[in-house]
Amino acid sequence: MIQEELKKAVSWSALDYILPGTVIGVGSGSTVAHFIYALASIKNSINGAVSSSNSSTKQLKSLGIPVLDLNEVDEVIVYVDSADEINCNLQMIKGGGAALTREKIIAAAAKKFICIVDESKKVEQLGKFPLPIEIIPMARTYITRELVKLGGLPKYRVGTITDNGNIILDVHNLHITDPVYLEKTINSLPGVVTVGLFAIHTAANIALISTTTGIKTIIK
Ligand code: 5RP
Repeated sequence: MIQEELKKAVSWSALDYILPGTVIGVGSGSTVAHFIYALASIKNSINGAVSSSNSSTKQLKSLGIPVLDLNEVDEVIVYVDSADEINCNLQMIKGGGAALTREKIIAAAAKKFICIVDESKKVEQLGKFPLPIEIIPMARTYITRELVKLGGLPKYRVGTITDNGNIILDVHNLHITDPVYLEKTINSLPGVVTVGLFAIHTAANIALISTTTGIKTIIK
């Protein structure tokens, strides 16, 4: 099965976790694009979606799914999103698509994070995928120097401006043995908007992992 088919299969399987009459948190990226199509098939039974990026918002609206402001919603029971890497504790690296800040906000606000991935995203240790960090532009060289002190090799993602008007550094060469510690450490640097480590409060509750032999479910 090719990766795109695995992404599609896991996206449709996430519908089992959607409760009628609720507002759904929706992530971003190519896997979530399949999920949005799946969600459109049950759009009349949900109250709408809160979206983590301009691109997901556009797709949701084009399929007739109402997009609501997180501030106007009483509760988000389920947030569905993918990841660039996920470990056995369901801690993740996210932000490959530069939508990490709004993704982390909705993940924090939601009761349950359902992570939908194909099996290539499952890793023993986080860090092979360069860790994305959204930063305020004027802090770029300061934060770059601090990340080098932490053992990373930060690279400026040239040409990318986030939906919030900021820039992204992708940090290579990190062997993340303690994701919670690293998330806290990077969060404490002035100028960091969001680090793409989802380990402290925003690790997934359920991972649906698409394999060639079916969907594997891990519940924390
Ligand atoms: C976007 C993300 C995505 O979830 C992550 O990059 C995975 O994307 P894809 O489904 O395209 O592989 O964090 O900011």
